Amino acid sequence: MNLRVVADFGGSLKQTFYVMRINRFEEKNLQMHRKRADRLRNIKASGIRRLFSLVQSMPDLISLGLGEPDFTPPTHVLEAAKQALDEGKTHYPPTNGIHELREALAKKFTREYGLFFNPDSEILVTVGATQAVFIALLAFVNPGDEVIIQDPGFVCYEPAVLLAGATPISVPTLKSDGFKPDINAVTSLLTDKSRAIIINSPNNPTGSVLSYDELSELSKLAVENDLIVVSDEVYEKITYDNVKHHCLATFPGMRERTVVVNSFSKTYAMTGFRVGYALGPEELISSMLLVQQFSVACVDGPAQYAATAALDGPQGFVREMVSHFDKRRKLVFKRLNEIAGFNCSLPKGAFYAFPDINDFGISSADFSEFLLKEARVIVTDGASFGKHGEGFVRLSFATAFEKIKEALDRIERTVNKMQRP
Ligand SMILES: Cc1ncc(COP(=O)(O)O)c(C=O)c1O
Repeated sequence: MNLRVVADFGGSLKQTFYVMRINRFEEKNLQMHRKRADRLRNIKASGIRRLFSLVQSMPDLISLGLGEPDFTPPTHVLEAAKQALDEGKTHYPPTNGIHELREALAKKFTREYGLFFNPDSEILVTVGATQAVFIALLAFVNPGDEVIIQDPGFVCYEPAVLLAGATPISVPTLKSDGFKPDINAVTSLLTDKSRAIIINSPNNPTGSVLSYDELSELSKLAVENDLIVVSDEVYEKITYDNVKHHCLATFPGMRERTVVVNSFSKTYAMTGFRVGYALGPEELISSMLLVQQFSVACVDGPAQYAATAALDGPQGFVREMVSHFDKRRKLVFKRLNEIAGFNCSLPKGAFYAFPDINDFGISSADFSEFLLKEARVIVTDGASFGKHGEGFVRLSFATAFEKIKEALDRIERTVNKMQRP
């Protein structure tokens, strides 16, 4: 982004100021790069957070950028954290997580999926799902190994693979395939270096949800090729239109090769608590525990009591939150498809719309910058999620219905003034 572009878009003085701040940030960043370790060479800062942190003081801005629920966790969850503090539970918790939480997780998986995980050896509480993915890769993947990831996909996977010294191998998930990995495409990417595959369903950023048969095909491929599977299921409870989520570890041959990663961030709107977890066979979990021990030591204690209360308490909150997401989802889908230039599929899970914007004839980064400056709406450019995200933008509908409505009105007015190719 530069000043010339602002002038082209007829930006105001105030907007110019924000752009100058972004330029200064980038210059400073360049200077800092000289001191960076080589292992960070191919890792770029997340485009989402960079833009968001720089412009969040922009007046009248509506953010459809970040993927976090706009709800407050239920009172009994907040009370559990406060009670833990009042009771002096302020010391180091166990490295693998407090016993109460691991027990509650074991019960959840037996109840919901008929899977038994031993709370003492097969469950690890982590700093969100982000850390679970990261330590899984450090624990199982050797330098030179290849790890298959979906493109577009959640922004943390590629850096985590690179930091583990391995090579990310992207499998395109195309709009024409409902943003789902084509099994033949995955097969064609396998080599003797293939070590693991990361699956994310329901999916960020596309909102796709893999069916039983699709997961079954992927499972067979993982078994036949002896792949370790990291199954990121953080949107497990956020599906629509009676679409069912299936836990990958329930498929034949998968319990012994899958690390199921999940978190309290999305299901219970607990992003700031930073509690996630990984479940898998002892062989895999014990390796992750070793990395955990010498990196973060353990997870915040009061937050773990809050997470335990979330699992053990009434689940009405989750259903209600999802029904709000559903109303917003329908609004976003309808309104976007009414605006010439957008072509949006109906998301079946998570809380993102991922419309095709190719008809506007500009890159997704330019398009999102244009919306930021002219409509004062933050959306995330699809290329932030991988090469195959180019031509798309992500709109998070984890924000209030009225705000989404206003954002869509602004987007409509703004793009209608755009000169099309
Ligand atoms: C697919 C996916 N996995 C993991 C995370 C991170 O979750 P946590 O807050 O538990 O680290 C996100 C957050 O956006 C996500 O979309």
